[in-house]
Amino acid sequence: MTLQPDTKHAAVNWTEAGESRSARWRSENGAPPPRRVTVVDDTITADAAYRQASEGTALLWRGDFQNARQLLQAMARRIDRKPRKPAASPTEAFNFHRQYQSQRARTLGMLLLPLEADFSIPLRRAPDVKQACAEAYGAGEVPSVVSLRELLGVIGAHEWRKSGVDIPALGVRIHPHYGVFSPVRGEYVQLVAEAPLPSTALAFDIGAGTGVLAALLARRGVNHVIATDQDPRALACARQNIARLGLAGRVEIVEADLFPPGRAPLVVCNPPWLPARANSPLEHAIYDPDSRMLKGFLNGLAAHLEPGGEGWLILSDLAEHLGLRTRAWLLAAFDAAGLNVVARMDTKPTHPRAADDTDPLHAARAAEVTSLWRLTARNT
Ligand SMILES: C[S@@+](CC[C@H](N)C(=O)[O-])C[C@H]1O[C@@H](n2cnc3c(N)ncnc32)[C@H](O)[C@@H]1O
Repeated sequence: MTLQPDTKHAAVNWTEAGESRSARWRSENGAPPPRRVTVVDDTITADAAYRQASEGTALLWRGDFQNARQLLQAMARRIDRKPRKPAASPTEAFNFHRQYQSQRARTLGMLLLPLEADFSIPLRRAPDVKQACAEAYGAGEVPSVVSLRELLGVIGAHEWRKSGVDIPALGVRIHPHYGVFSPVRGEYVQLVAEAPLPSTALAFDIGAGTGVLAALLARRGVNHVIATDQDPRALACARQNIARLGLAGRVEIVEADLFPPGRAPLVVCNPPWLPARANSPLEHAIYDPDSRMLKGFLNGLAAHLEPGGEGWLILSDLAEHLGLRTRAWLLAAFDAAGLNVVARMDTKPTHPRAADDTDPLHAARAAEVTSLWRLTARNT
């Protein structure tokens, strides 16, 4: 486990009108409180803001909220027009891209806004973000300072949560919460909708996220689904989606590291697809450092399958196209875990980035295939 600094209750300090000031620092992506903070308003130019932010000076905004949004966009344009380092291989392209994303997040995260204890924003033309903040942060408690970039993410997540994501395979909408993996790329859900069910008695769903796969299995007729997660936000989100769909009597959402106790005739898992370090805690559903969850699922699967049962692993081969994992490694991992492959169902992603040839990872994304591996334990 990597230790994250206690940024939840850290403070940010600055001097304003000759007085020392301080407020709680909020950063869901684990950024430490900035050491240098200067108070700015609408009179700052985008060039000056960009320069200071790049040098590590945070800008606490006291001007008009909408102008702060425009300033953030202007800073982003200055970052995005800088030429990118050419990469000699897909792995290098991936590493450069991750460095670029992390540097971009750091610089744009330097434009800060004040939040009152009730999550009102004491700025001209500021929107009401109380509900959005309460959903993402829980109770407000004390005045705080947050980056505008994070706040826009919180507002966006609130909109997604309200409107939900259409899941054609389910015929209903799923409502993701802030920080919870959103099933916007529906192809993998379709694979779970189409794979032949080995039994309708019981299924485990490992890493429930929004609860989309658990809901789908229940809708397909599985009488009892036990879905696990470790992330409190995912657990709350899955419970809410399951209740909204009227499936609470058949789907249990439980906190567990990987498997619940016992065995099931069907165990489904959609682990994070890329074996790489997450840049922030919010990325833990996308990046699986050292394939911890993937290996944990495979190595524990045989002990959690009933005789004749199936494990369904959902995994994209993007990591293979990026040179982060090989197919031979994956097949050897199945074998070492005592698993046989019964069948594999494939689908091609249809999301817009797969077709965006300006994306630095375009070649890998265009070749990506997502698979549902049907696995059985060798000794049953
Ligand atoms: C890629 S998301 C998949 C979510 C959902 N099943 C879906 O398909 O949309 C992976 C999920 O696994 C959860 N997770 C990561 N490590 C876990 C562990 N050791 N035990 C249980 N859940 C875990 C994450 O919190 C995240 O919600």
